[in-house]
Amino acid sequence: MIVTKIDEIGKYVGKEVKVQGWLYNKRSSGKIHFLLVRDGYGLLQCVMAKDSADEATFSAFDRLTQESSLEVIGTVREDKRSPGGYELSLQNINVIQIAEDYPITPKEHGVAFLAERRHLWLRSSRQHAILRIRNEIIFAIRKFFYDKKFTLIDTPILTGAIGESAGTLFETQYFDLGKAYLAQTGQLYVEAACMSLGNVYCFGPTFRAEKSKTRRHLTEFWMIEAEEPFYDNSMNMDLQEELVEYIVHWTLEKCQKEFEVIERDLAPLKKITRPFYRLSYDEAIQLLQKKGSSIKWGDDMGGDEETLLSEQFDKPVLIYNYPKKIKAFYMKPHPERAELVLNNDMLAPEGYGEIIGGSQRNDDHDSLLQRIREEKLPEETYGWYLDLRKYGSVPHSGFGLGLERTVSWICHLPHVRESIPFPRMLYKLYP
Ligand code: 4AD
Ligand code: MG
Repeated sequence: MIVTKIDEIGKYVGKEVKVQGWLYNKRSSGKIHFLLVRDGYGLLQCVMAKDSADEATFSAFDRLTQESSLEVIGTVREDKRSPGGYELSLQNINVIQIAEDYPITPKEHGVAFLAERRHLWLRSSRQHAILRIRNEIIFAIRKFFYDKKFTLIDTPILTGAIGESAGTLFETQYFDLGKAYLAQTGQLYVEAACMSLGNVYCFGPTFRAEKSKTRRHLTEFWMIEAEEPFYDNSMNMDLQEELVEYIVHWTLEKCQKEFEVIERDLAPLKKITRPFYRLSYDEAIQLLQKKGSSIKWGDDMGGDEETLLSEQFDKPVLIYNYPKKIKAFYMKPHPERAELVLNNDMLAPEGYGEIIGGSQRNDDHDSLLQRIREEKLPEETYGWYLDLRKYGSVPHSGFGLGLERTVSWICHLPHVRESIPFPRMLYKLYP
């Protein structure tokens, strides 16, 4: 017996096959029963007529409830009207389990209701499509870096040094050694690795005890962080543009079906070709003020400012050289304007805002140590990081791309919670 996934069923026209999956829907005209079966790879219409199926198979139909698990056996026929273009003439049904009353029905449910049942919500066609697109985005990122000969470096999740800032740490006692933190970033470790291997990147979960309840904040999110020796800030920005263009083009090519399911308007994505737009922080503040924002020079940009800014552009915009005061300790000071750092954020269009944060790193031992002291970070935990500035220090740069923010933008999601299988947020630890 041929066992096939639904997306491959076209290979077996005229043959008898078995498909394993779940009942998505059913309807009947009395004499003819229709089952819609899903298996994770597609939807398949199965048909049985009273006069061609045996009695047991025909009556199994009545017992089947939504999400019951089953095996269907039958002959593959071409049928232009069926989803996927093929249909199965049923000979036999093996019922594996009859599902209890399924809470998620085709009617509209509120987001809170669905979020409580995230483990089941994942089975809906929209969530299924989003996770497929996420999968392609991850693959595109890995392929991009692999083709460019970046080495993947897995950085620790339990860390002793604060990577970004003290404000948003999840901490735990680590045996007798003191406090450990869940990594906010893998950056400090890829900085060490790039002095060994050249271009590197890490890709892992990162954690921020963000008290913000917004549509773009998770407490656990996945970040891709590249680190490149001998790159200045401008080369670092070029690499970011290349990566983001690559991801968008990849998904446009690979995810047509999924974009259709989620009804993503592809016109804005098709515009994403290099060069993107670039604005200095000074220019960005002026533009925001012109558009009616009350932001002052020196202020950090919040979600509202990012949205306003990114709505002005039909491609991502890179904002560079922010004030030192509002950025992390490890960024390299601007050589002519000490109040600025050599860094950038990339804001995605359509109002999505920041998807990347990057910078040239401070490669000078003494000024880095001074910044660690100014920020009142525990100096004793950065000995190893400062060592990198003692033994063959070189100019180097890197950036971090937030995976869920990127998925949200590419899928045009209203909230980041749909971009990850099991979101962790201020009020969400279950399921
Ligand atoms: O700008 P961030 O904080 O930069 C860093 O962590 C650097 N160490 C990166 C580097 O240079 N290697 O975070 C980078 C990106 C943001 O642009 C955003 O896309 C995402 O990570 N991000 C979040 N995504 C979801 N929820 C949160 N709470 C996020 N915080 C940051
Ligand atoms: Mg940032």
